[in-house]
Amino acid sequence: RTAAGTEAYLVRKLAHHEYTNAALDAAQARADEEGMPRIAIPKMLGQMLAILAKSMRAERVLEIGTLAGISTHYLATALPAHGQIDTIEASPAHAKVAQANFLAMDTCPFPTTHVGKALKLLRDPAGPFKDPPGTMEGMPEPGYDLAFVDANKDEYFEYFQECLRLVRKGGVMVFDNAIRNGRIAVPDGTKVDPDCSGLRKMYDWIEKDGGKTVLASAIQTVGDKSWDGFAIVYKL
Ligand code: DHB
Ligand code: MG
Repeated sequence: RTAAGTEAYLVRKLAHHEYTNAALDAAQARADEEGMPRIAIPKMLGQMLAILAKSMRAERVLEIGTLAGISTHYLATALPAHGQIDTIEASPAHAKVAQANFLAMDTCPFPTTHVGKALKLLRDPAGPFKDPPGTMEGMPEPGYDLAFVDANKDEYFEYFQECLRLVRKGGVMVFDNAIRNGRIAVPDGTKVDPDCSGLRKMYDWIEKDGGKTVLASAIQTVGDKSWDGFAIVYKL
């Protein structure tokens, strides 16, 4: 009885061929061959993100942190063919692997990979994120339906602020790695924990907001790696 063995069992039982298939395994293998860190989201989290996107009928997704494009593929596959997914990756080498993976997996809709530092891209007054994407029929305001943040943890608070600007009312943001072996709830000693500082700032902001702007939760997970989790934020 281990978390990794349980994850493997669940994948055997619940893998859906449109999402968790040989092409996805080949994409992960390509990432491994390129020496990329083995920190892609677990398959079961990928399918959960797909369920979230499908259940809210998401058409426009923003992702911060592409890595090899595994999570991007899950999210894209959950969208209608005319959907849009923008993903931001700081490392040109990683973006290249992701691009090869999207081509090999025939990811549809095809993701737009923006290569560069996320905050620089997101805040560029002439850049691709200067305005939220256009208003979708029946939606109260323009913006992305869903954002998935899984990039450098020290800037999570700034990513949260940009997501608040770019995600529509009624949209959802998911932040990976929200628990970090429980370190999130333990105050720092003399050294700031860069894995937790940004998220703590986000949780502080949400506490202070007093429920005016967002409804948030965070879920602890065990998995093939360790005790971690994700935060989920609904924009009111
Ligand atoms: C780690 C895991 C992640 O999901 C991530 O985004 C970054 C780092 C890790 O386990 O180190
Ligand atoms: Mg992560």
